[in-house]
Amino acid sequence: MINPSEFIKESIENIKNEINNEKTIIALSGGVDSSVCSVLVKKAIGDNLVAVFVDHGLLREGEVEEVCKTFENRLNFVYVDAKDEFLNALYGVEDPEEKRKIIGKVFIDVFEREAEKIKAKFLVQGTIAPDWIESEGKIKSHHNLALPGGMVLKVVEPVRDLYKDEVREIGLELDLPDELVFRQPFPGPGLAVRVVGELSEEKLEICRKADAIVREEILKNGLGKELWQYFAVLTDTKVTGVKGDQRDFGYLVVLRMVASVDAMTAYVPELPWDVIRSISKRITSEVSEVTHVSLSISDKPPSTIEFA
Ligand code: XMP
Repeated sequence: MINPSEFIKESIENIKNEINNEKTIIALSGGVDSSVCSVLVKKAIGDNLVAVFVDHGLLREGEVEEVCKTFENRLNFVYVDAKDEFLNALYGVEDPEEKRKIIGKVFIDVFEREAEKIKAKFLVQGTIAPDWIESEGKIKSHHNLALPGGMVLKVVEPVRDLYKDEVREIGLELDLPDELVFRQPFPGPGLAVRVVGELSEEKLEICRKADAIVREEILKNGLGKELWQYFAVLTDTKVTGVKGDQRDFGYLVVLRMVASVDAMTAYVPELPWDVIRSISKRITSEVSEVTHVSLSISDKPPSTIEFA
């Protein structure tokens, strides 16, 4: 196990030597890995680091405000509102792989524009050990990244030898807020992989509201640390329901709540039934477009954690 304060001291020294006060950029997602890297690199090179937070319009409720509030005063922080660019590019697309590809491409376009603005030479990435160990089996020296516009950025990965629990310890030592340090993983393509089928602002908002209820109930009941991820999926299935004395026809939402160590495998643990029932009741009463909530009980494998 690492000693957090020693790791931080050494890491700052190494980053200083490697980057040498050149302009450097990081894509800050608000997840623990990129947050820890941002704060470490900021300590090493100050405002030569620009942390870019790209809002693709696929984030969860309250996330933009939380990330901005946490980092605006700690970092040389740039918020990029790219919601329209992403949603326009995704218009009419149903296939999950195609959604992922489009999001990846638009992300690079947006990020490259920001890197060009500051003439960045280095790119900081929050890669951690499980991201490369299984595929490579050995430590690879730092590589460079050529963006499609031809710009070549040298990649710096300050936490590439650490595991998630170690990154969390460093985050605590760096005084990052608990909610951020213990935040559940959230996929890069965001709610685009949790709204099944074609996206719309309306569907994203339904998913966002249902997801906020899942998070609130799980945390309120102290179940957050038992679960790897817990979220709501908005399906494209419509189901008949009753509201008052009226027939209703609304969406089916699926609750996905899994335990895992590294997301390679995952299982659905037995959760208190009263918590599941209250999540379901709250979603159908507070999110008027939803008539039915079901619970996913499939482990990984054979299922994946995300629905798309
Ligand atoms: P699956 O659905 O493959 O997910 O069981 C395993 C873990 O990876 C996350 N995930 C992603 N993360 N970009 C990401 O950054 C993606 O496209 C992506 N797809 C899945 C997922 O949330 C889970 O923790």
